[in-house]
Amino acid sequence: MSEKVVSSGINGLDSVLGGGFPRGSLILLAGNPGTGKTVFSAQFLYRGAVNHDESGVYVNFCESRQTFYDNMKAFGFDFEKLEKEGKFRYLDLLAVREKAVSSILDLIIEEIGKIKAKRLVLDSYSALAQAFEKPFETRIIVQTIFSRITRQFECTTLILAEVPVGKENIGLGMEEFVADGILMLKKDIELLLRELVILKMRGVKVETIKLLFTLDGGFHVFPPLTISMIKEPEKKFEIIPHGKEHFSTGIQDLDNILGERLKAGNFNLLEIEPNVDFPTERLLRPTLCNFLNQGQGVIILLPQGLSGYVMKESLVPFVKQEFLQKNLKIIDYRYAGEEEIKDPCIVKLNGVSIRSEMRTLWRLNSDLRNKTNKPVFSIVGYDTIEYAYGEKEALKTLGEDVARIRNMGDIRFNVIRPTIYIANQLRALSHIHLLVKQIDGALFLRGIKPETPLLNISLETKDQYTRIKLTPLV
Ligand SMILES: Nc1ncnc2c1ncn2[C@@H]1O[C@H](COP(=O)(O)OP(=O)(O)O)[C@@H](O)[C@H]1O
Ligand SMILES: [Mg+2]
Repeated sequence: MSEKVVSSGINGLDSVLGGGFPRGSLILLAGNPGTGKTVFSAQFLYRGAVNHDESGVYVNFCESRQTFYDNMKAFGFDFEKLEKEGKFRYLDLLAVREKAVSSILDLIIEEIGKIKAKRLVLDSYSALAQAFEKPFETRIIVQTIFSRITRQFECTTLILAEVPVGKENIGLGMEEFVADGILMLKKDIELLLRELVILKMRGVKVETIKLLFTLDGGFHVFPPLTISMIKEPEKKFEIIPHGKEHFSTGIQDLDNILGERLKAGNFNLLEIEPNVDFPTERLLRPTLCNFLNQGQGVIILLPQGLSGYVMKESLVPFVKQEFLQKNLKIIDYRYAGEEEIKDPCIVKLNGVSIRSEMRTLWRLNSDLRNKTNKPVFSIVGYDTIEYAYGEKEALKTLGEDVARIRNMGDIRFNVIRPTIYIANQLRALSHIHLLVKQIDGALFLRGIKPETPLLNISLETKDQYTRIKLTPLV
């Protein structure tokens, strides 16, 4: 880590900030009550002391020492221990009204000196302002902290600001200009979403950055999911064996959520919201690899926006050549004047008659089942079917399609964008129903059947395996 930045201690945030907060900067952390300001700043101090050997002082004008220590224990922060090790001091200034401005400053500076603190938290500006009758007294404190403590001692400082419920702007005045960075915490009560907004940060490109976060197990930001998050090249696919009575999706976290629901004869649905820009083939890959590598037949009638070539190439490095050539069929549409493709995995349709073309799908399915003697896993882009033949034709074929999967004991995942007409019929028929959505660049999965909280999708590379991880947002 560069000397010029200080790790925020918040999972997922440093990379967005270009390493962390500028060393010796003053950061304003604002938000309604209960949005997580105290958790954020406590974690900043705790991780700073534990991971970076930077001691810290927490100055609180409204919460007693014991309340703070007790609340923070729930997050795994043992401040009592840190205090004993001389890495932390808690300055309780509840009785601030009786003190003069200068003596408050002396107290803070004294605490900092005692442990040579490199981090300071002031909780909160709002409580401080209430304690003084004249606004300039609060300003003197902030100014002095800024010029002496923050800059002179290179003590990175967080000043918290309580934004009254119902108000959106911070509205402190001058202090917002003094601050090197302004962070705003928000909570959407209806959707149970928590959001961190970076309004300003010295050294970071000026644009509003929004990041979803959770307080579960500590303050944890969900950064935008991009393919470039894969730190090392992935080389292998790790098989997850199927159970006796159920199948594995190839994603351990998803299997845990589904229990043993994925069974032969299931007709399932995966909806991908229109704004999701993460490649579909990358999302489907673990499941496809897991079936193919266990010698099962796989059929893909391509969802919109996927090409047969891209789909196949994304599987090549992870599936045994033999299985790929024999057991994979990708159904694509032939466009007028398009050249013949000689790939045995790719079957081209004309989009002329839904009857004959669904029959092609069903025939490929039974051929593969007979050949492998195992249930066949198929992915069908019903959006493609609806676009090619229209809503009525797609609906007519649906009943027979479900019956075939059930009767023959195969496994189906239909993949659609939620905007198609027959979405409701597909939802009603589905055994497992999952939804993929993107919020503030981060990717989430939500189970409708079975019902789950929003699950953040991230990629984790370890020992040449890249796994999809699902973290609940609560
Ligand atoms: N152990 C815990 N795990 C997850 N969230 C918690 C836990 N304890 C409290 N919370 C949540 O933390 C929030 C309080 O955060 P806090 O940092 O005190 O807010 P602020 O300082 O902005 O008022 C509350 O919304 C509460 O629901
Ligand atoms: Mg608080």
